[in-house]
Amino acid sequence: MKSNRKSKPNGQALLLINIGQLVTLQPASSKPGPRRGPGLKELGIIEDGAVLCLGGRIVSVGPTKDALRDPWLKKNRRKVLEIDCASKVVLPGFVDSHTHPVFVSPRLVDFEKRIEGASYEEIAEAGGGIRSSLEGFRKAGKRVLVEKVLAVLRDMAAHGTTTVEAKSGYGLTVESELKSLEAIRDAAYRWPGTVVATLLGAHVVPKEFQGCSQKYVEAVCKEMIPQAAKRKLAQFVDVFCDQGAFTAAETEQIFEAAEQYGLSVRAHMCQLTETPLQPLLRFNPASFDHMDHVSEDDIAQLARHDTVATLVPGANYFLGLKEYPRARRLIDAGVPVALATDYNPGTSPTLSMPTAMSLACTQMKMSPAEAVAAATINGAWALRVADRKGTIEPGKDADLAVFAVEDYREIPYWFGANRCSLTVMNGSVACPQ
Ligand code: NIG
Ligand code: FE
Repeated sequence: MKSNRKSKPNGQALLLINIGQLVTLQPASSKPGPRRGPGLKELGIIEDGAVLCLGGRIVSVGPTKDALRDPWLKKNRRKVLEIDCASKVVLPGFVDSHTHPVFVSPRLVDFEKRIEGASYEEIAEAGGGIRSSLEGFRKAGKRVLVEKVLAVLRDMAAHGTTTVEAKSGYGLTVESELKSLEAIRDAAYRWPGTVVATLLGAHVVPKEFQGCSQKYVEAVCKEMIPQAAKRKLAQFVDVFCDQGAFTAAETEQIFEAAEQYGLSVRAHMCQLTETPLQPLLRFNPASFDHMDHVSEDDIAQLARHDTVATLVPGANYFLGLKEYPRARRLIDAGVPVALATDYNPGTSPTLSMPTAMSLACTQMKMSPAEAVAAATINGAWALRVADRKGTIEPGKDADLAVFAVEDYREIPYWFGANRCSLTVMNGSVACPQ
């Protein structure tokens, strides 16, 4: 799946005016690559702003009074759908760069066990966790899965998200992983936003391969990856590299196969235990996600690479952990940091980017400005779509989120409430119910 953009752009001309704060994310400096250090705070806010979109793209950005003087607009105003934002805040649509939306049921027993004191690892060892999601998933028909994914995408859009990375990973057979990717493709086709699909066949070793994980890794490398690549069902391959899942050596093997078949890579890293990152950097991963336990040496290495550290504080919150990833250390050392929901039934059943941002501010001491950039432009870098997503600039896709607040800092401030009042996805307007 190269891109689902071609079928998406809405030809309708669209003008948003009277935007109290238009948070463009246009950089003040011209440093290439993902935002780092002080660059993560550059929001490029225009007061009383306006955005003109045409053919699913942004064509001009500036103060409302300048937009209204535009000769093209004066001539064509009747053809333009005009939205008076009445001093609200407009951001680039959020880019949620880490989600697992293709599952059948919530894991409520795991939830209760954890409240009673069991850890994520203990629950998995006792037969809960990811493996307990497999049986229902394998039996599920594709149509049911498509409807579930579509409902999630719509709900995400209602919270301001317009680009979503969606992983497979709850089937763990060749057939059911392909079914999962097909469900992502079919749901994406019916959603005006943009979906980037990831094969996560290496989520855990399924029961039938326990004790012979190498055989399972071979199935991932020799069957799942080639088939997903050939059918263009995925752009990325992900691996859960950690204790109880896949080793660093197995991750390298899987990355080699991905490389061979032209797929880019990303990985769940250092969520439960510290794993050296350096050997994996030669694969130029788009992102390393979770990153709860990272060595100082690896932080220094990452500061020299474009691999994004994608932090998912919803997982730490939901697992009831006291510790969160060291966002401050990573940012201050110059590592590019993104934020994502990690929407999944085991560790992070939230699809709200504002919730992830609020946790980033209160628990990881990121400033609201850093949280905004991490949830937009750096998410776009983590998905390698920064050329068309993540900022409000002429030439980029018309992906916008309107929030019924006066100041962008209110987005992480009013935690638990959804203040998103409208989204624009590839030029199509969607209003949350
Ligand atoms: O990102 N860590 C691995 N994968 C998910 C959890 C998936 C699950 O528990 O169902 C995560 O936290
Ligand atoms: Fe995850």
